[in-house]
Amino acid sequence: MCRVLMLALALVVVIVAIAPHQTLSAPLNRTLPGCKSTCGNVEIPYPFGIGNSSTPDQRPCFLKPVFNLACNNSTLKWGTVTVLNISVPAHQVDVLQLVSWFCNSEDYWETWLTTGISRISRKENKFITVGCDSYGNLNSVYNDKTYTTGCLTRCYGNALVIDDGTCSGIGCCQVDIPPRMTNITIKAFAFTTSRRNISINNASVISNSTCSYSFVVKNGFYNFSTTHLKSFPNKTLPLVLDWTVGNKSCDDSKSRGDYACKENSYCDDKDSDYGYRCMCRDGYEGNPYLGCIDIDECKTGHHTCVSEKYCLNTNGSHKCFCPKGQSGNGTKEEGCHKKDVVTKVVIGVAAGTIILVVGTTLLYLIYQKRRLNKLREKYFQQNGGSILLQNLSTRENSSQIQIFTEEQLKKATNNFDESLIIGKGGFGTVYKGHLADNRIVAIKKSKIVDKSQNEQFANEVIVLSQINHRNVVKLLGCCLETEVPLLVYEFVNHGTLFDFIHTERNINDATWKTRVRIAAEAAGALSYLHSEASIPIIHRDVKTANILLDNTYTAKVSDFGASRFVPLDQTEIATMVQGTFGYLDPEYMRTSQLTEKSDVYSFGVVLVELLTVEKPYSFGKPEEKRSLTNHFLSCLKEGRLSDVVQVGIMNEENKKEIMEFSILAAKCLRLNGEERPSMKEVAMELEGMRLTEKHPWINTFQNPEEAHLLQKGSSSVCEPGDSSSHQYTIGYDSINDHVQIAFDDGR
Ligand SMILES: *[C@@H]1O[C@H](CO)[C@@H](O)[C@H](O)[C@H]1NC(C)=O
Ligand SMILES: *[C@@H]1O[C@H](CO)[C@@H](O)[C@H](O)[C@H]1NC(C)=O
Ligand SMILES: *[C@@H]1O[C@H](CO)[C@@H](O)[C@H](O)[C@H]1NC(C)=O
Ligand SMILES: *[C@@H]1O[C@H](CO)[C@@H](O)[C@H](O)[C@H]1NC(C)=O
Ligand SMILES: *[C@@H]1O[C@H](CO)[C@@H](O)[C@H](O)[C@H]1NC(C)=O
Ligand SMILES: *[C@@H]1O[C@H](CO)[C@@H](O)[C@H](O)[C@H]1NC(C)=O
Ligand SMILES: *[C@@H]1O[C@H](CO)[C@@H](O)[C@H](O)[C@H]1NC(C)=O
Ligand SMILES: *[C@@H]1O[C@H](CO)[C@@H](O)[C@H](O)[C@H]1NC(C)=O
Ligand SMILES: *[C@@H]1O[C@H](CO)[C@@H](O)[C@H](O)[C@H]1NC(C)=O
Ligand SMILES: *[C@@H]1O[C@H](CO)[C@@H](O)[C@H](O)[C@H]1NC(C)=O
Ligand SMILES: *[C@@H]1O[C@H](CO)[C@@H](O)[C@H](O)[C@H]1NC(C)=O
Ligand SMILES: *[C@@H]1O[C@H](CO)[C@@H](O)[C@H](O)[C@H]1NC(C)=O
Repeated sequence: MCRVLMLALALVVVIVAIAPHQTLSAPLNRTLPGCKSTCGNVEIPYPFGIGNSSTPDQRPCFLKPVFNLACNNSTLKWGTVTVLNISVPAHQVDVLQLVSWFCNSEDYWETWLTTGISRISRKENKFITVGCDSYGNLNSVYNDKTYTTGCLTRCYGNALVIDDGTCSGIGCCQVDIPPRMTNITIKAFAFTTSRRNISINNASVISNSTCSYSFVVKNGFYNFSTTHLKSFPNKTLPLVLDWTVGNKSCDDSKSRGDYACKENSYCDDKDSDYGYRCMCRDGYEGNPYLGCIDIDECKTGHHTCVSEKYCLNTNGSHKCFCPKGQSGNGTKEEGCHKKDVVTKVVIGVAAGTIILVVGTTLLYLIYQKRRLNKLREKYFQQNGGSILLQNLSTRENSSQIQIFTEEQLKKATNNFDESLIIGKGGFGTVYKGHLADNRIVAIKKSKIVDKSQNEQFANEVIVLSQINHRNVVKLLGCCLETEVPLLVYEFVNHGTLFDFIHTERNINDATWKTRVRIAAEAAGALSYLHSEASIPIIHRDVKTANILLDNTYTAKVSDFGASRFVPLDQTEIATMVQGTFGYLDPEYMRTSQLTEKSDVYSFGVVLVELLTVEKPYSFGKPEEKRSLTNHFLSCLKEGRLSDVVQVGIMNEENKKEIMEFSILAAKCLRLNGEERPSMKEVAMELEGMRLTEKHPWINTFQNPEEAHLLQKGSSSVCEPGDSSSHQYTIGYDSINDHVQIAFDDGR
């Protein structure tokens, strides 16, 4: 699923990454080749130029002689005027002109300007007169007629209030420039030539003169100040001239040989009363008198596209486009993400993606499910499922075994929730489960993954399912779909014998009777397993923790995780030593030969445990008491039984019975397996004890051995007997690696 998402993402990235090809624009030429391009700080663009070019043809650098300039001592001169700046696109030239003044009839200056092809720019200039009781005028000759404009400024005695910076008619006046001003003369006049005192802003200022000043000045280049009435600061001020080419209209000029507008330019004579101008066409830039070149709008950012990526430069223009798979014309107005179209596209893409993702997820899930089913099938076969099924179909009624699915058991245990664990041992984990049909079961999950064992598993399940004994935990079914088969047992609700005896509160005669009954029941169950089941079964892990109790304290032998079947023609089989430390048959440990007598030994330990309520092996105790069985046997031998049996359990009534019980335990614990009684004999003897309890008149024989054991009093510590014969406890360290010992310390 993740991979699919990444693929979709990559697709989007690829679409976005498609970008148009871009071209580099050529450098702009401002002058003809071989011509001086600057004078001082001032650039000299064509059609203006200075003299002839330095190229071999020595052609003039200017378009017409009227554009011929001079550069003297870094000062650019156009005739007599100093040029400050030349702009071709605006068709303007900034020049310096002298300020006209009039102080008296002997002290004055009149500025004149022969403009030739140019006009005084109306937009860029103002005509200004500064002075008190003064006026100035601007004269121009046009078609041999003189046109005049001007303004008048007055000051009012000593109460003159003038704001700096405003040319409002008091101390300073200004007028706009009329059209067609060429060949101008500027004159300044005063109404009076006498000296006078003036006060400015209530401060008396002695006007040193009555001079007036008149000039045409570029907007923003002269700001009136009252101090200028005392003394005028500038001898020269800039003004702006509009220039044109030729002296005819566009229409008249285009056919002429000296038509100045080069490629990609057009002719403009709209606001001109004289000549024409050349302008670069839209989308081109540069010098129209040299030829305009295309503007790469995409690169310069002057495009109308949503993004530079969707811009394609064309001659004089550019095109916008949208990446493949998107609609719209790619302009900023519409874009590739124009609302309605884009929404559709987005919805489409989103829907597509969702369908893709959902589809893929479904496919993935189906695949996973199939894989899981296959795996389950594999495990089922591996665990001998088909053998089991075959068996079930051929044998009706004989076995009530049910085959559970993994799903059912997962549900029953809330996906094997840890809080539902009721037991954990060397052989696996037991969960309490609640089946859909309200049955409460114990589900055992094995720890050991032994493939060879799994093959036998089905057979074992079949056999176990046929065990129908009231003191054996009933196997209800199994699940073979998991790697480790799961077993489903009836749920026995009152815990283990181990827990029971170690937590028992009241210690009295009834306590003992219950223990005898439980022992008899457990022995009966084991006897049944050994001799009455269809195939003899050796439990291999007999211990108090594996004897469960139901609500009437009826014993139920459980945990066949380590059980072995004994083929009918064999009485012993070699296996890996397995079991719980403390209960292990030393003979079995030594020889690895498993017989039914190993269970008898372990059961003997259980009997001792019932007598003593001590754990079979405690590392924390002194050496001689560490092994419960050794300690017990020693005490028994020395006639100090009361040293070892649970304090308070023995009384006059049961004294004899406890002795019998102890001797039975001792028999079970014989080192030589063959000398031990069979489980059947043990069961019968225990059953006999129960009956005696119920019917005291059934008297049992008393053998001399017992009498001897009872006679001895209880005093000191019982010394272990032949310790070498109990090597499995003290020789713990010498146990080989292949010996598998589970330390089940109970729960
Ligand atoms: C611009 O200048 C370069 C080098 O000076 C020259 O080769 C080119 O022809 C010029 N272009 C124009 C349009 O004059
Ligand atoms: C410039 O060239 C013209 C002819 O093209 C010539 O008449 C003139 O004398 C030359 N001027 C200079 C300063 O060389
Ligand atoms: C250059 O200017 C100087 C004065 O600054 C003047 O004497 C001279 O004649 C000028 N030359 C030209 C070619 O205008
Ligand atoms: C050239 O101009 C500089 C200042 O701009 C001035 O000092 C110098 O005297 C001038 N030379 C001539 C020959 O006019
Ligand atoms: C010349 O004029 C152009 C355009 O009007 C302007 O950008 C430039 O700053 C001016 N240069 C000077 C030295 O005034
Ligand atoms: C401006 O004066 C010049 C020289 O004095 C003259 O050639 C030109 O015709 C005049 N222009 C106008 C429009 O009168
Ligand atoms: C100007 O003021 C000075 C002193 O304030 C005075 O002496 C003088 O007479 C005044 N002149 C005129 C013409 O008012
Ligand atoms: C100037 O002075 C006069 C009299 O001294 C006074 O009435 C007037 O308010 C003052 N004006 C200003 C602008 O200070
Ligand atoms: C006033 O005029 C005289 C002569 O006209 C001059 O010497 C003096 O410097 C001027 N004073 C001011 C402040 O302009
Ligand atoms: C005139 O005033 C304007 C606005 O206050 C300012 O931008 C400009 O630079 C001033 N010009 C001069 C020559 O002082
Ligand atoms: C006029 O003169 C003043 C004072 O010297 C100066 O600051 C200003 O720049 C001048 N104006 C121009 C346009 O040259
Ligand atoms: C692109 O589409 C918008 C809106 O539909 C429209 O206004 C614009 O003129 C179109 N531009 C081009 C170059 O087609």
